[in-house]
Amino acid sequence: MKTAFITGITGQDGAYLAKLLVEKGYKVHGGVRRISHPELGRLEALGVAKDVHIHDFDLTEPNNIYRVIRDVAMDEFYNLAGQSFVGASWELPIYTSDVDAMGVARVLDTLRTLRPETRFYQASTSEMFGLVQEVPQRETTQLHPRSPYGVAKVYGHFITMNYRESFGMHASSGILFNHESPLRGKEFVTRKITLALAKLAHGGVDAVQLGNMDARRDWGFSGDYVEGMWRMLQQDVADDYVLATNTTTTIRDFVNYAADALGMDLAWDGEGVAETATDRKSGKRVVEINEKFFRPAEVELLIGDARKAREKLGWTPKVDVRELAQMMAKSDFDALL
Ligand code: NAP
Ligand code: GDD
Repeated sequence: MKTAFITGITGQDGAYLAKLLVEKGYKVHGGVRRISHPELGRLEALGVAKDVHIHDFDLTEPNNIYRVIRDVAMDEFYNLAGQSFVGASWELPIYTSDVDAMGVARVLDTLRTLRPETRFYQASTSEMFGLVQEVPQRETTQLHPRSPYGVAKVYGHFITMNYRESFGMHASSGILFNHESPLRGKEFVTRKITLALAKLAHGGVDAVQLGNMDARRDWGFSGDYVEGMWRMLQQDVADDYVLATNTTTTIRDFVNYAADALGMDLAWDGEGVAETATDRKSGKRVVEINEKFFRPAEVELLIGDARKAREKLGWTPKVDVRELAQMMAKSDFDALL
């Protein structure tokens, strides 16, 4: 039986990965940071809360990291913890880099000292491509991050490569494009949309307030992506891989897919901050634009080329963006029944 340690086990990906590893027969340990109201809701939703061993863990706390790595005899370490909300990173640039950049170095250096044979996964991101230098983006595409979050993640990405090259550690970095699920945080645009539309479908009256409707994202399903993380750590040689669907979709079209799943028929009108969407069937206003959701610098287009993961890991995503929007919208609708 293998043992894995997952940081960020209370998050979206942490929960799906914990479920995958429990099903594969792993002994799963996870790190949970101290907050006023500890929350294992996602692990409970996936039915694995009782199957995981929880440890107090914070990526900003070096001695805490040291003790956890000393005490848990782990074969694999998945570093999924992070300040993951891009929009917040302009307000929290120092904290974001402490967690998303320095936190990675703290873990790698402790593993190097205590358990250098442990296989390590770093949660890198398509946000590192930012102002994209190539379409589609792949492992070799030049990075140009556009947010403090993206900048911090670039450090995490390169320090992972560096520990692999410097110390021969089995350290891999997954450059994951956006992936969502019914367990996605409510501030991310997909879940914000599906929750708001589900409330409207239940008789609510509040339109969802959104920012840039023209941004394009390559959206997949978290459950598919954690399988790719695991496959990376099963390779003889550590490496970096893009995980993506190779389809890009505007925010506007994601709204259309979610609306469609809930039986709405949207009419779009106006441009820029005056743009709106109204449901032809109910006459209700569904989308309004609010300038406060625009970002100081935007990532306008993401579309990934996951050929390397397909060829070397045998990984392919199973859920497309329409199915994803439908899955999330129906889940939010059913939860309100
Ligand atoms: P998420 O739902 O926001 O989960 C983040 C997790 O990190 C939560 O468990 C959170 O704990 C924990 N955390 C935050 N700060 C911490 C700290 N200082 N010390 C220890 N734990 C801390 O994010 P996700 O969507 O699952 O993403 C997982 C990772 O992949 C993140 O690093 C993210 O940046 C990266 N990523 C995500 C995507 C995506 O589209 N989902 C794409 C590429 C990369 P709490 O529960 O206490 O908040
Ligand atoms: N959150 C949010 N809220 N985003 C909005 C809104 C809104 O009201 N209106 C428009 N958007 C646009 C954002 O400007 C962005 O272009 C896009 O929707 C997606 O925003 P998010 O869902 O917040 O995700 P993200 O792409 O910034 O970041 C996610 O994906 C990254 C991978 O590319 C996060 O999961 C990151 O942690 C991850 O690294």
